[in-house]
Formats: sequence, structure tokens, C-alpha cells
Amino acid sequence: MAKNYKIAVLPGDGIGPEIVGEAVRVLKAIGKKNNIKFDLQEALVGGASIDKYGAPLTDETLKLAKGSDAVLLGAVGGPKWEGLDYSIRPERALLALRKELGLFANLRPAKIYPVLSDASTLKKEIIDGVDIMVIRELTGGLYFGTPKGVTKLPDGTERGVNTMVYTTPEIERIARVAFDVARKRRKKVTSVDKANVLETTELWRKVVIKVHKDYQDIELSHMYVDNCAMQLVRNPKQFDVIVTENTFGDILSDEAAMLTGSIGMLPSASLGGKVGMYEPIHGSAPDIAGTDKANPIATILSVAMMLRFSFDLTKEADDVERAVESVLNKGYRTLDINQPGMKLVGCKGMGEAIIGEL
Ligand code: IPM
Ligand code: MG
Repeated sequence: MAKNYKIAVLPGDGIGPEIVGEAVRVLKAIGKKNNIKFDLQEALVGGASIDKYGAPLTDETLKLAKGSDAVLLGAVGGPKWEGLDYSIRPERALLALRKELGLFANLRPAKIYPVLSDASTLKKEIIDGVDIMVIRELTGGLYFGTPKGVTKLPDGTERGVNTMVYTTPEIERIARVAFDVARKRRKKVTSVDKANVLETTELWRKVVIKVHKDYQDIELSHMYVDNCAMQLVRNPKQFDVIVTENTFGDILSDEAAMLTGSIGMLPSASLGGKVGMYEPIHGSAPDIAGTDKANPIATILSVAMMLRFSFDLTKEADDVERAVESVLNKGYRTLDINQPGMKLVGCKGMGEAIIGEL
């Protein structure tokens, strides 16, 4: 009997429902064409969940995610919820899902489509051929370390604290992911730290060097995070796999995304536990929500990553990626990647064009 893949669909806020809607249509088309059953169960997350239930992630939604084979997430957050206490902000849902599902490895590929190399804000000769995999540690570091919080001081001022903390096992396991991924690529890993200043990343560097002993076929180099931010725009082609701490990875992956022309193009896979989570790396873009202007490609490519990493459906994943490439080659563009002479389409139109290619 054919396997039934259970997917928790969490559209979230802002453009989330629009982009996830198109990604779901792509999934359904793939299922229909290849006779694969995807059992999709939708739930609220982030601000949408706060509005209905008073919490960004309910126990039921967490249970649904944990009981699925994979999670497809749109985006969370928006100005409406910015005044809330940190503990109940929409973003908390994302952090809790990552932590609860044990998703310590976040894969964010930044690959240039040749037809889009003019859409980037960088010169064509700098970005042509860029193919980088940013591997962001996702359940440790500054995002989760304690102590944290803001306290009142006796003199009436306040003190805010976050803690960047990593243990040896946390670094070892993300280093292994990076070396394993590099083995299937160009066999180069750049480990990014701030070992000249931050002790925790000095440990990071030491542990990465130790793990590398098991991966002598991989070329390892180290780079300070400030230099990496600069090198990404100076000469991005020098990078294959970048592995780094949670906050550094958050920042560098946005930068890497822009090399490809638009942050609306970059998918991600969060792995490490039983259930993988897949989401675009961009946010909820409240300014364009509900206007059919969002680019659904990052989410559709996240579906391709889901097919590949969670379900081992390699051919189907290739099909989705090929379909995206093909509509771009045919000149279909959403607003974020549009150029003179191209066929401007909305979120729905882009989804339709991609399904047409399947
Ligand atoms: C990302 C986002 C999230 C993060 C936010 C929305 C909490 O920026 O996935 O990169 O900081 O991890
Ligand atoms: Mg980010």
C-alpha cells in the first residue's frame, strides 16, 4: 500500500496564508500526478493563534506537529502583535516548534538562477554561479541561552540580558551535519565564529576542528562573522557550506538570500528530530499581505526540500525545482524579482505557472 504522508500545515500571519496556499496546491498536484497521498492538516500559529486562542502555539498545534511526518510553515508576526510581552509574541511559536521538535540544523541554500542574475543588487560577475548552503544552528546560542530577560534596577533604569551559550555536544552535532552536507557538494566548509572576542565561539572553533578529524576529505576553514558578512558581498563564490551559530546564521542567511536577487526565493529545512520543518526564510511581509503580490517560490522550494529530506521523494523534489526554474526561464516574475520585459504575475499566478510546468 502506498504510504500516506501526514503534513501539518501552519500558514501563520501576513503573506503566510497566500504563499502556503500556493505551496499546498503544488503538493496536491505532485500527489495527484504521482499517486502519492498527502494528508494535510491545517492549524493556526503565531499572531493568528494569539487572536483566536490567546497563545502563539497551542498544545493541540504542537501535538499535531509532533504527530506529523513533516511541518510546512508560512511566516509569523506583524505590527499588530509587536507590543505583546516577549513570552507570548508570534515568534515564540517558531522558536518553540524548533526546540520541541529538536530541529537543531537549519539548511538555507542560496543558489543563483542564471536568468535572475540581473535581478540582484550585486554585479552579475560577482554573483553568477553562486551556490551556497548556509547551515544555521537553530536550537542554541543567543536565541535560547539563559539567563535572559529585562530586569528593573534599584536606580530605576533597566538591564537587558541574553546569553550566547554552546556545549560541546551541540557544536559536534551541527559540525557533523555541515561536513556530511559538504560531502555531497563541493567538499568545503567555512565555520563562522567570533573566536577573537567571544569565548563560546572559541569553543565552537575548537570543537569543529576536532570533529573535522573524521572528515579529512573535506576542506575546513574558519572565518570571523564580521569578515564573513563582508566576504559574502565581496566574493560569494568562495563559499560552499557555511556553518554557524544561531544568531550569526539568522543574519548571514538574509544576506546570502539577497545575492540571489530576492529573499522571496530562499527555502529552508530544519532538521535533526523525527519531524522536519520547512519554511521560507523570509518573514510575514505585512505591508503586502492580502494583495497577491508575495513571491511563493521560497515556500514552494521548501516543499521540494520536504519531499527530498523528509520523504525521500527525490524525483518529485527534482520535478518541483525544475518547474520553478522553467517558469523563471519563461519570464514569469513576481514583483520582487520583476524586470522590464518580463511577465509580471501575482502570488497565485506564479503558483499556477509552476503547477502548469509540473
Ligand atoms: C528566521 C526568522 C526568525 C528567526 C524569526 C521570525 C523568529 O528571522 O527564521 O530567520 O529569527 O529565526
Ligand atoms: Mg531571519
